[in-house]
Amino acid sequence: MLHEKLTSFPKNFLWGAASAAYQVEGAWNEDGKGISNWDTFVRIPGKTFKGTNGDVAVDHYNRYKEDIQLMAEMGIKTYRFSVAWARIFPNGKGEINQEGLDFYHHLIDELIDHGIEPILTIYHWDLPQALQDAYGGWESRQVIEDFTNYCVALYKAFGDRVKYWVSLNEQNVFTRLGYQSAMHPPGVKDDKLFYQVNHHASLANAAAMREFRNYVPNGKIGPSFAYSPAYAATSKPEDVLAAENAEEFTSHWWMDVYVWGTYPKAAWDYLERKGIAPHVEVGDFELLRENKPDFMGVNYYQTTTFEKNTLDGVTSEGNFNTSGEKGTTEDTGIPGLYKTVHNKNLNRTNWDWNIDPQGLRIGLRRITNRYKLPVLISENGLGEYDQVEADGSINDDYRIEYLTSHVKAIQEALTDGVEVIGYCVWSFTDLLSWLNGYQKRYGFVYVNQQEEGEHDLRRIKKKSFYWYKDTIENNGENLR
Ligand code: BG6
Repeated sequence: MLHEKLTSFPKNFLWGAASAAYQVEGAWNEDGKGISNWDTFVRIPGKTFKGTNGDVAVDHYNRYKEDIQLMAEMGIKTYRFSVAWARIFPNGKGEINQEGLDFYHHLIDELIDHGIEPILTIYHWDLPQALQDAYGGWESRQVIEDFTNYCVALYKAFGDRVKYWVSLNEQNVFTRLGYQSAMHPPGVKDDKLFYQVNHHASLANAAAMREFRNYVPNGKIGPSFAYSPAYAATSKPEDVLAAENAEEFTSHWWMDVYVWGTYPKAAWDYLERKGIAPHVEVGDFELLRENKPDFMGVNYYQTTTFEKNTLDGVTSEGNFNTSGEKGTTEDTGIPGLYKTVHNKNLNRTNWDWNIDPQGLRIGLRRITNRYKLPVLISENGLGEYDQVEADGSINDDYRIEYLTSHVKAIQEALTDGVEVIGYCVWSFTDLLSWLNGYQKRYGFVYVNQQEEGEHDLRRIKKKSFYWYKDTIENNGENLR
Protein backbone atom coordinates (compact mmCIF):
# COMPACT_ATOMS: atom_id res chain seq x y z
CA MET A 1 0.00 0.00 0.00
CA LEU A 2 1.53 3.29 -1.07
CA HIS A 3 0.08 6.37 0.60
CA GLU A 4 0.06 9.84 -0.91
CA LYS A 5 -0.08 11.42 2.52
CA LEU A 6 0.78 9.89 5.86
CA THR A 7 -1.36 10.19 8.99
CA SER A 8 0.33 12.17 11.77
CA PHE A 9 1.32 10.54 15.03
CA PRO A 10 -1.40 11.14 17.65
CA LYS A 11 -0.79 14.16 19.89
CA ASN A 12 -0.55 11.98 22.99
CA PHE A 13 1.74 9.39 21.37
CA LEU A 14 4.00 7.82 23.99
CA TRP A 15 7.53 8.35 22.67
CA GLY A 16 9.67 6.40 25.07
CA ALA A 17 12.46 4.03 25.93
CA ALA A 18 12.63 0.74 27.79
CA SER A 19 14.86 -1.27 30.12
CA ALA A 20 14.72 -4.27 32.44
CA ALA A 21 15.73 -4.51 36.09
CA TYR A 22 18.46 -7.13 35.73
CA GLN A 23 20.02 -5.34 32.79
CA VAL A 24 20.33 -1.91 34.39
CA GLU A 25 19.94 -1.91 38.15
CA GLY A 26 22.96 -3.70 39.59
CA ALA A 27 22.80 -3.70 43.42
CA TRP A 28 22.14 -7.40 43.07
CA ASN A 29 22.27 -8.14 46.79
CA GLU A 30 21.53 -4.75 48.33
CA ASP A 31 18.74 -3.53 50.60
CA GLY A 32 17.28 -6.94 51.27
CA LYS A 33 16.98 -8.13 47.68
CA GLY A 34 16.78 -11.90 47.26
CA ILE A 35 18.71 -13.93 44.70
CA SER A 36 17.16 -14.37 41.27
CA ASN A 37 17.55 -17.16 38.73
CA TRP A 38 19.80 -14.83 36.70
CA ASP A 39 22.02 -14.07 39.69
CA THR A 40 22.60 -17.81 39.85
CA PHE A 41 22.79 -18.60 36.15
CA VAL A 42 25.44 -16.03 35.24
CA ARG A 43 27.79 -17.65 37.75
CA ILE A 44 27.85 -20.92 35.82
CA PRO A 45 31.02 -20.81 33.69
CA GLY A 46 30.48 -20.43 29.95
CA LYS A 47 26.88 -19.23 30.08
CA THR A 48 27.38 -15.56 29.17
CA PHE A 49 29.80 -13.65 26.95
CA LYS A 50 33.09 -13.41 28.88
CA GLY A 51 31.24 -14.37 32.03
CA THR A 52 29.47 -11.01 32.31
CA ASN A 53 26.80 -10.52 34.93
CA GLY A 54 24.40 -7.87 36.20
CA ASP A 55 25.91 -7.51 39.69
CA VAL A 56 26.64 -3.87 38.93
CA ALA A 57 25.12 -3.57 35.46
CA VAL A 58 24.92 0.19 34.80
CA ASP A 59 24.14 0.95 38.45
CA HIS A 60 20.73 2.45 37.69
CA TYR A 61 19.71 1.49 41.23
CA ASN A 62 22.01 4.20 42.57
CA ARG A 63 22.00 6.52 39.56
CA TYR A 64 18.32 6.56 38.60
CA LYS A 65 18.04 10.29 39.34
CA GLU A 66 20.84 11.11 36.95
CA ASP A 67 19.26 8.85 34.32
CA ILE A 68 15.83 10.41 34.73
CA GLN A 69 17.39 13.86 34.49
CA LEU A 70 18.76 12.82 31.09
CA MET A 71 15.37 11.43 30.07
CA ALA A 72 13.76 14.75 30.96
CA GLU A 73 16.40 16.62 28.98
CA MET A 74 15.57 14.43 26.00
CA GLY A 75 11.87 15.12 26.43
CA ILE A 76 10.90 11.48 26.61
CA LYS A 77 7.19 10.92 27.29
CA THR A 78 7.37 7.47 28.81
CA TYR A 79 9.88 5.11 30.42
CA ARG A 80 9.27 1.38 30.54
CA PHE A 81 11.15 -0.35 33.36
CA SER A 82 10.70 -3.66 35.16
CA VAL A 83 10.43 -4.56 38.81
CA ALA A 84 12.75 -7.22 40.21
CA TRP A 85 10.42 -9.69 41.90
CA ALA A 86 13.17 -10.67 44.37
CA ARG A 87 13.48 -7.06 45.56
CA ILE A 88 9.83 -7.10 46.62
CA PHE A 89 9.67 -10.71 47.83
CA PRO A 90 13.23 -11.95 48.45
CA ASN A 91 11.89 -15.51 48.62
CA GLY A 92 9.29 -15.03 45.92
CA LYS A 93 6.48 -14.89 48.45
CA GLY A 94 5.80 -14.16 52.12
CA GLU A 95 6.97 -10.91 53.71
CA ILE A 96 7.34 -7.82 51.57
CA ASN A 97 10.79 -6.22 51.61
CA GLN A 98 9.89 -2.57 52.19
CA GLU A 99 13.25 -1.26 50.97
CA GLY A 100 12.69 -2.95 47.63
CA LEU A 101 9.25 -1.44 47.30
CA ASP A 102 10.63 1.97 48.27
CA PHE A 103 13.14 1.94 45.44
CA TYR A 104 10.32 1.69 42.91
CA HIS A 105 8.23 4.28 44.79
CA HIS A 106 11.12 6.71 44.41
CA LEU A 107 11.70 5.77 40.78
CA ILE A 108 8.04 6.25 39.87
CA ASP A 109 7.78 9.54 41.77
CA GLU A 110 10.92 10.85 40.13
CA LEU A 111 9.55 9.97 36.68
CA ILE A 112 6.23 11.65 37.38
CA ASP A 113 7.94 14.74 38.79
CA HIS A 114 9.74 15.03 35.47
CA GLY A 115 6.54 14.61 33.44
CA ILE A 116 7.41 11.07 32.33
CA GLU A 117 4.68 8.41 32.21
CA PRO A 118 5.90 5.20 33.88
CA ILE A 119 5.21 1.88 32.15
CA LEU A 120 5.81 -0.89 34.64
CA THR A 121 6.80 -4.39 33.52
CA ILE A 122 5.94 -6.91 36.21
CA TYR A 123 8.17 -9.73 35.01
CA HIS A 124 11.22 -9.35 32.82
CA TRP A 125 12.79 -12.78 33.35
CA ASP A 126 14.33 -12.52 36.83
CA LEU A 127 12.51 -15.15 38.85
CA PRO A 128 13.29 -15.42 42.57
CA GLN A 129 15.70 -18.36 42.84
CA ALA A 130 13.82 -19.51 45.94
CA LEU A 131 10.81 -20.39 43.76
CA GLN A 132 12.98 -22.24 41.26
CA ASP A 133 14.46 -24.23 44.15
CA ALA A 134 11.14 -24.83 45.91
CA TYR A 135 9.09 -26.15 43.01
CA GLY A 136 10.86 -25.50 39.71
CA GLY A 137 9.42 -21.99 39.24
CA TRP A 138 7.28 -21.91 36.09
CA GLU A 139 7.28 -25.73 36.02
CA SER A 140 4.67 -25.92 38.77
CA ARG A 141 1.12 -24.57 38.92
CA GLN A 142 2.08 -23.15 42.32
CA VAL A 143 3.75 -20.27 40.48
CA ILE A 144 0.34 -18.98 39.38
CA GLU A 145 -0.66 -18.14 42.95
CA ASP A 146 2.74 -16.69 43.87
CA PHE A 147 2.90 -14.60 40.74
CA THR A 148 -0.62 -13.30 41.31
CA ASN A 149 0.20 -12.32 44.89
CA TYR A 150 3.30 -10.52 43.67
CA CYS A 151 1.18 -8.68 41.07
CA VAL A 152 -1.37 -7.66 43.67
CA ALA A 153 1.39 -6.26 45.89
CA LEU A 154 2.53 -4.10 42.97
CA TYR A 155 -1.01 -3.04 42.05
CA LYS A 156 -1.67 -1.95 45.64
CA ALA A 157 1.62 -0.08 45.92
CA PHE A 158 1.79 1.62 42.54
CA GLY A 159 -1.69 1.43 41.01
CA ASP A 160 -2.47 4.99 42.06
CA ARG A 161 0.34 6.40 39.89
CA VAL A 162 1.07 3.83 37.20
CA LYS A 163 -1.50 3.57 34.43
CA TYR A 164 0.32 1.34 31.92
CA TRP A 165 1.45 -2.14 32.92
CA VAL A 166 3.19 -4.94 31.05
CA SER A 167 2.56 -8.37 32.56
CA LEU A 168 5.07 -10.87 31.17
CA ASN A 169 7.95 -9.79 28.97
CA GLU A 170 8.46 -12.13 26.02
CA GLN A 171 6.99 -15.29 27.42
CA ASN A 172 7.91 -16.97 24.14
CA VAL A 173 11.58 -16.06 24.60
CA PHE A 174 12.16 -16.80 28.28
CA THR A 175 10.47 -20.18 27.94
CA ARG A 176 12.15 -21.13 24.64
CA LEU A 177 15.61 -20.16 25.83
CA GLY A 178 14.96 -21.59 29.29
CA TYR A 179 13.41 -24.92 28.27
CA GLN A 180 14.29 -25.63 24.61
CA SER A 181 17.74 -24.26 23.89
CA ALA A 182 18.99 -24.14 27.50
CA MET A 183 20.61 -20.76 26.86
CA HIS A 184 18.72 -19.06 29.70
CA PRO A 185 17.91 -20.29 33.20
CA PRO A 186 17.10 -22.91 34.21
CA GLY A 187 19.11 -24.26 31.24
CA VAL A 188 16.84 -27.17 30.38
CA LYS A 189 16.06 -28.89 27.06
CA ASP A 190 12.68 -30.58 27.32
CA ASP A 191 9.94 -29.95 24.77
CA LYS A 192 7.13 -31.35 26.89
CA LEU A 193 8.14 -29.23 29.85
CA PHE A 194 8.46 -26.21 27.55
CA TYR A 195 4.78 -26.42 26.61
CA GLN A 196 3.74 -27.11 30.20
CA VAL A 197 5.72 -24.15 31.51
CA ASN A 198 4.06 -21.98 28.88
CA HIS A 199 0.63 -23.11 29.93
CA HIS A 200 1.40 -22.10 33.52
CA ALA A 201 2.81 -18.76 32.43
CA SER A 202 -0.29 -18.06 30.32
CA LEU A 203 -2.52 -18.90 33.27
CA ALA A 204 -0.44 -16.65 35.53
CA ASN A 205 -0.73 -13.91 32.94
CA ALA A 206 -4.52 -14.29 32.82
CA ALA A 207 -4.79 -14.33 36.62
CA ALA A 208 -2.70 -11.15 36.74
CA MET A 209 -5.15 -9.47 34.32
CA ARG A 210 -8.12 -10.62 36.40
CA GLU A 211 -6.72 -9.06 39.59
CA PHE A 212 -5.67 -5.94 37.75
CA ARG A 213 -9.30 -5.07 37.03
CA ASN A 214 -10.01 -5.11 40.79
CA TYR A 215 -7.05 -3.03 41.90
CA VAL A 216 -6.28 -0.71 38.98
CA PRO A 217 -9.66 -0.26 37.31
CA ASN A 218 -8.57 2.69 35.22
CA GLY A 219 -5.25 1.21 34.13
CA LYS A 220 -4.22 -0.61 30.97
CA ILE A 221 -2.38 -3.91 30.93
CA GLY A 222 -0.99 -6.29 28.32
CA PRO A 223 1.83 -8.76 27.76
CA SER A 224 4.91 -7.89 25.68
CA PHE A 225 5.29 -10.44 22.96
CA ALA A 226 8.51 -10.90 20.98
CA TYR A 227 7.02 -10.91 17.51
CA SER A 228 9.21 -11.91 14.62
CA PRO A 229 6.84 -12.07 11.64
CA ALA A 230 7.40 -15.11 9.43
CA TYR A 231 8.25 -14.81 5.74
CA ALA A 232 8.30 -17.63 3.22
CA ALA A 233 11.69 -18.06 1.51
CA THR A 234 10.04 -18.56 -1.89
CA SER A 235 6.58 -18.75 -3.42
CA LYS A 236 6.83 -22.56 -3.53
CA PRO A 237 3.72 -23.74 -1.67
CA GLU A 238 5.83 -25.94 0.64
CA ASP A 239 7.82 -22.89 1.75
CA VAL A 240 4.65 -20.88 2.24
CA LEU A 241 3.30 -23.71 4.36
CA ALA A 242 6.54 -23.75 6.38
CA ALA A 243 6.08 -20.02 7.08
CA GLU A 244 2.46 -20.70 8.12
CA ASN A 245 3.71 -23.41 10.47
CA ALA A 246 6.23 -20.99 11.92
CA GLU A 247 3.66 -18.26 12.41
CA GLU A 248 1.44 -20.74 14.24
CA PHE A 249 4.16 -22.34 16.42
CA THR A 250 6.26 -19.27 17.12
CA SER A 251 3.59 -16.56 17.45
CA HIS A 252 -0.07 -17.58 17.43
CA TRP A 253 0.65 -20.18 20.09
CA TRP A 254 0.99 -17.28 22.54
CA MET A 255 -0.98 -14.40 21.12
CA ASP A 256 -4.12 -16.49 20.45
CA VAL A 257 -4.06 -17.59 24.08
CA TYR A 258 -3.66 -14.03 25.36
CA VAL A 259 -6.53 -12.67 23.30
CA TRP A 260 -8.89 -15.57 22.63
CA GLY A 261 -7.96 -18.07 25.32
CA THR A 262 -7.44 -20.83 22.74
CA TYR A 263 -4.47 -22.63 21.23
CA PRO A 264 -4.12 -22.77 17.43
CA LYS A 265 -5.72 -25.98 16.17
CA ALA A 266 -3.09 -27.52 13.88
CA ALA A 267 -0.32 -26.84 16.40
CA TRP A 268 -2.33 -28.35 19.25
CA ASP A 269 -3.13 -31.49 17.25
CA TYR A 270 0.52 -31.87 16.26
CA LEU A 271 1.66 -31.64 19.89
CA GLU A 272 -0.99 -34.11 21.01
CA ARG A 273 0.17 -36.62 18.42
CA LYS A 274 3.73 -36.16 19.69
CA GLY A 275 2.56 -36.54 23.29
CA ILE A 276 3.89 -33.13 24.31
CA ALA A 277 0.72 -31.02 24.49
CA PRO A 278 0.36 -29.33 27.89
CA HIS A 279 -1.77 -30.84 30.60
CA VAL A 280 -4.85 -28.64 31.05
CA GLU A 281 -7.11 -28.63 34.11
CA VAL A 282 -10.80 -27.86 34.40
CA GLY A 283 -11.36 -24.12 34.39
CA ASP A 284 -8.07 -23.26 32.66
CA PHE A 285 -9.59 -22.25 29.36
CA GLU A 286 -12.27 -20.29 31.16
CA LEU A 287 -9.63 -18.26 33.00
CA LEU A 288 -7.76 -17.66 29.75
CA ARG A 289 -10.88 -16.70 27.79
CA GLU A 290 -12.20 -14.31 30.41
CA ASN A 291 -9.09 -12.22 30.98
CA LYS A 292 -7.96 -10.37 27.93
CA PRO A 293 -5.32 -7.68 27.60
CA ASP A 294 -6.09 -4.04 26.82
CA PHE A 295 -3.29 -3.86 24.28
CA MET A 296 -0.74 -6.14 22.66
CA GLY A 297 2.78 -5.19 23.66
CA VAL A 298 5.13 -5.95 20.79
CA ASN A 299 8.88 -6.24 21.00
CA TYR A 300 10.03 -6.06 17.42
CA TYR A 301 13.59 -6.55 16.26
CA GLN A 302 13.42 -8.56 13.05
CA THR A 303 11.54 -10.86 10.73
CA THR A 304 12.49 -14.50 10.17
CA THR A 305 12.39 -16.33 6.85
CA PHE A 306 11.46 -19.99 6.57
CA GLU A 307 11.50 -22.84 4.13
CA LYS A 308 10.40 -26.46 4.09
CA ASN A 309 12.20 -28.79 6.48
CA THR A 310 12.05 -32.52 5.86
CA LEU A 311 11.36 -35.06 8.61
CA ASP A 312 15.08 -35.81 8.85
CA GLY A 313 16.00 -32.15 8.38
CA VAL A 314 17.63 -29.39 10.40
CA THR A 315 17.07 -29.36 14.17
CA SER A 316 17.12 -26.61 16.79
CA GLU A 317 20.83 -27.21 17.44
CA GLY A 318 22.80 -24.44 15.78
CA ASN A 319 25.15 -21.68 16.82
CA PHE A 320 23.55 -18.46 18.00
CA ASN A 321 25.77 -15.42 17.59
CA THR A 322 26.50 -13.91 21.00
CA SER A 323 30.03 -12.81 20.10
CA GLY A 324 29.31 -10.05 17.57
CA GLU A 325 31.23 -11.95 14.87
CA LYS A 326 29.02 -11.41 11.86
CA GLY A 327 27.93 -14.52 10.01
CA THR A 328 28.29 -16.99 12.89
CA THR A 329 24.57 -17.62 13.43
CA GLU A 330 23.50 -20.98 12.01
CA ASP A 331 20.08 -21.80 10.63
CA THR A 332 17.87 -23.99 12.78
CA GLY A 333 14.50 -25.66 12.46
CA ILE A 334 12.03 -28.28 13.56
CA PRO A 335 12.04 -31.36 11.32
CA GLY A 336 8.77 -31.65 9.43
CA LEU A 337 7.68 -28.08 10.26
CA TYR A 338 10.13 -25.41 9.11
CA LYS A 339 13.72 -24.26 9.00
CA THR A 340 15.13 -20.75 8.99
CA VAL A 341 17.06 -19.36 6.04
CA HIS A 342 19.13 -16.23 5.60
CA ASN A 343 17.01 -13.58 3.86
CA LYS A 344 19.46 -12.10 1.33
CA ASN A 345 17.18 -9.09 0.77
CA LEU A 346 17.95 -7.75 4.22
CA ASN A 347 21.08 -6.35 5.82
CA ARG A 348 22.12 -7.83 9.12
CA THR A 349 23.70 -6.43 12.25
CA ASN A 350 27.02 -7.70 13.59
CA TRP A 351 24.95 -10.09 15.73
CA ASP A 352 23.15 -11.38 12.59
CA TRP A 353 19.81 -9.77 13.37
CA ASN A 354 17.91 -8.83 10.19
CA ILE A 355 17.22 -5.14 9.70
CA ASP A 356 13.69 -4.92 8.36
CA PRO A 357 11.54 -1.85 9.08
CA GLN A 358 8.81 -3.00 6.67
CA GLY A 359 8.59 -6.15 8.77
CA LEU A 360 7.42 -4.00 11.68
CA ARG A 361 4.62 -2.56 9.56
CA ILE A 362 3.68 -6.05 8.37
CA GLY A 363 3.68 -7.35 11.94
CA LEU A 364 1.56 -4.46 13.20
CA ARG A 365 -0.99 -5.09 10.48
CA ARG A 366 -1.13 -8.81 11.14
CA ILE A 367 -1.75 -8.21 14.84
CA THR A 368 -4.38 -5.57 14.17
CA ASN A 369 -6.28 -7.74 11.71
CA ARG A 370 -6.13 -10.84 13.84
CA TYR A 371 -6.66 -9.45 17.33
CA LYS A 372 -8.26 -6.02 16.89
CA LEU A 373 -6.24 -4.55 19.74
CA PRO A 374 -4.18 -1.38 20.05
CA VAL A 375 -0.45 -2.04 20.04
CA LEU A 376 2.24 -0.73 22.35
CA ILE A 377 5.63 -1.16 20.71
CA SER A 378 7.34 -2.04 23.95
CA GLU A 379 10.78 -2.62 22.40
CA ASN A 380 12.63 -1.90 19.18
CA GLY A 381 16.23 -0.89 18.73
CA LEU A 382 19.66 -1.64 17.37
CA GLY A 383 22.37 -3.50 19.26
CA GLU A 384 25.75 -2.49 17.84
CA TYR A 385 29.34 -1.66 18.71
CA ASP A 386 29.73 2.03 19.54
CA GLN A 387 32.95 3.98 19.39
CA VAL A 388 33.84 6.87 21.69
CA GLU A 389 35.83 9.31 19.54
CA ALA A 390 38.87 11.22 20.77
CA ASP A 391 36.68 14.30 21.31
CA GLY A 392 34.28 12.24 23.44
CA SER A 393 31.49 12.10 20.84
CA ILE A 394 29.67 8.95 19.76
CA ASN A 395 28.44 9.18 16.20
CA ASP A 396 25.93 6.37 15.97
CA ASP A 397 24.50 7.30 12.57
CA TYR A 398 23.69 3.62 11.94
CA ARG A 399 21.33 3.70 14.96
CA ILE A 400 19.70 6.91 13.75
CA GLU A 401 19.20 5.32 10.34
CA TYR A 402 17.74 2.18 11.92
CA LEU A 403 15.35 4.07 14.18
CA THR A 404 14.31 6.56 11.48
CA SER A 405 13.31 3.75 9.16
CA HIS A 406 11.33 2.03 11.91
CA VAL A 407 9.53 5.20 12.97
CA LYS A 408 8.59 5.79 9.33
CA ALA A 409 7.27 2.23 9.14
CA ILE A 410 5.12 2.90 12.21
CA GLN A 411 3.71 6.01 10.59
CA GLU A 412 2.88 4.00 7.49
CA ALA A 413 1.17 1.42 9.69
CA LEU A 414 -0.80 4.20 11.41
CA THR A 415 -1.90 5.35 7.98
CA ASP A 416 -2.89 1.75 7.17
CA GLY A 417 -5.24 1.92 10.16
CA VAL A 418 -3.19 0.35 12.94
CA GLU A 419 -3.60 1.87 16.41
CA VAL A 420 -0.19 2.32 18.04
CA ILE A 421 -0.20 3.94 21.46
CA GLY A 422 3.53 4.25 22.01
CA TYR A 423 7.05 3.40 20.95
CA CYS A 424 9.62 2.35 23.53
CA VAL A 425 13.09 2.25 22.05
CA TRP A 426 15.37 -0.36 23.52
CA SER A 427 17.11 1.21 25.36
CA PHE A 428 17.63 4.56 27.10
CA THR A 429 21.09 3.93 28.51
CA ASP A 430 23.39 1.16 27.42
CA LEU A 431 22.83 -1.95 29.51
CA LEU A 432 23.79 -5.56 29.97
CA SER A 433 22.73 -7.57 26.94
CA TRP A 434 21.96 -10.87 28.74
CA LEU A 435 24.24 -13.27 26.82
CA ASN A 436 26.21 -10.68 24.84
CA GLY A 437 27.97 -8.70 27.54
CA TYR A 438 28.24 -4.91 27.33
CA GLN A 439 29.74 -4.59 23.86
CA LYS A 440 26.35 -4.99 22.17
CA ARG A 441 25.04 -1.51 22.89
CA TYR A 442 21.49 -0.27 22.43
CA GLY A 443 21.28 3.03 24.31
CA PHE A 444 20.83 6.68 23.43
CA VAL A 445 23.20 7.23 26.33
CA TYR A 446 26.55 5.47 26.37
CA VAL A 447 27.62 3.99 29.70
CA ASN A 448 31.28 3.37 30.34
CA GLN A 449 30.89 -0.25 31.37
CA GLN A 450 32.79 -3.15 29.79
CA GLU A 451 33.05 -6.90 30.11
CA GLU A 452 36.31 -6.78 32.05
CA GLY A 453 37.70 -4.52 34.75
CA GLU A 454 36.10 -1.76 36.78
CA HIS A 455 34.83 1.33 35.02
CA ASP A 456 33.47 4.69 36.06
CA LEU A 457 30.04 4.09 34.48
CA ARG A 458 29.89 7.68 33.28
CA ARG A 459 27.04 8.58 30.98
CA ILE A 460 27.72 10.13 27.55
CA LYS A 461 24.97 11.29 25.20
CA LYS A 462 25.26 9.71 21.77
CA LYS A 463 24.32 11.48 18.53
CA SER A 464 21.09 9.46 18.50
CA PHE A 465 20.13 11.15 21.80
CA TYR A 466 19.75 14.46 19.96
CA TRP A 467 18.00 12.78 17.04
CA TYR A 468 15.33 11.29 19.32
CA LYS A 469 14.95 14.57 21.21
CA ASP A 470 14.25 16.30 17.93
CA THR A 471 11.87 13.55 16.79
CA ILE A 472 9.87 13.77 20.00
CA GLU A 473 9.74 17.57 19.86
CA ASN A 474 8.37 17.37 16.33
CA ASN A 475 6.08 14.41 17.05
CA GLY A 476 7.78 12.51 14.24
CA GLU A 477 7.01 15.14 11.58
CA ASN A 478 10.70 15.88 11.02
CA LEU A 479 11.34 12.51 9.42
CA ARG A 480 9.35 12.95 6.22
C1 BG6 B 1 14.45 -8.56 24.11
C2 BG6 B 1 14.47 -8.46 25.62
O1 BG6 B 1 14.43 -9.89 23.80
O2 BG6 B 1 15.52 -8.10 23.39
C3 BG6 B 1 15.54 -7.53 26.16
O3 BG6 B 1 13.22 -8.14 26.13
C4 BG6 B 1 16.80 -7.72 25.37
O4 BG6 B 1 15.68 -7.78 27.51
C5 BG6 B 1 16.53 -7.27 23.94
O5 BG6 B 1 17.92 -7.09 25.88
C6 BG6 B 1 17.73 -7.34 23.04
O6 BG6 B 1 18.28 -8.62 23.08
P1 BG6 B 1 19.82 -8.85 23.30
O7 BG6 B 1 19.99 -10.30 23.38
O8 BG6 B 1 20.49 -8.25 22.11
O9 BG6 B 1 20.14 -8.11 24.55
